[in-house]
Amino acid sequence: MNRGEPQDQTGSPVARTIVLVGMMGVGKTTVGRRLAPRLGLPFKDADQEIEAASGMSVGDLFEAHGEESFRAGEAQVIRRLVTGPPIVLATGGGAFVNESTRQVVKDHAVSVWLRADVDTIVQRATRRPTRPLLKNGDPKQIISRLLKEREVFYSQADLSVDSAKGPHARTVEKIVDAIAAYTKVELA
Ligand code: S3P
Repeated sequence: MNRGEPQDQTGSPVARTIVLVGMMGVGKTTVGRRLAPRLGLPFKDADQEIEAASGMSVGDLFEAHGEESFRAGEAQVIRRLVTGPPIVLATGGGAFVNESTRQVVKDHAVSVWLRADVDTIVQRATRRPTRPLLKNGDPKQIISRLLKEREVFYSQADLSVDSAKGPHARTVEKIVDAIAAYTKVELA
């Protein structure tokens, strides 16, 4: 058993990138931001990286160039991040639907599906009006449909953790425990 000694130049005992996947609103960014210092890794958010690279918000990118173009940029940014030094990476809700993204994540990282029920997702995802996919129609219907379509992909993640119940701090601890069991690294 690895006793938690640093495994690489990050100084983190977790020598792999941790990729958070799952629906919009499940808390990937908030949880990821807290998980990263817990594991001694830097945090990055794929949507924010896309926004920085393009100089546009995700909403404006969808509007100006369309979803397909956003998806191509998203896959590129995630490949770059996942093949670099270990980080905690929060991905956008549609990222893990892409087959080559799933493959590069499988090859280079440990993936964690953050799960929640439809009502919790609707409640959290509609707090801010920033999500282009929720703009045209009833958010609950859209989220139910997307979750049904995407579950088959999310379920291919290495680990899954329920983020619906309790505060985000509790979800972080559940993820730490799941990663420790999976990687056989002791994370106190
Ligand atoms: C999307 C989720 C968003 C963002 C874009 C598309 C999706 O990210 O990438 O609006 O397809 O579910 P979050 O999951 O961080 O909201």
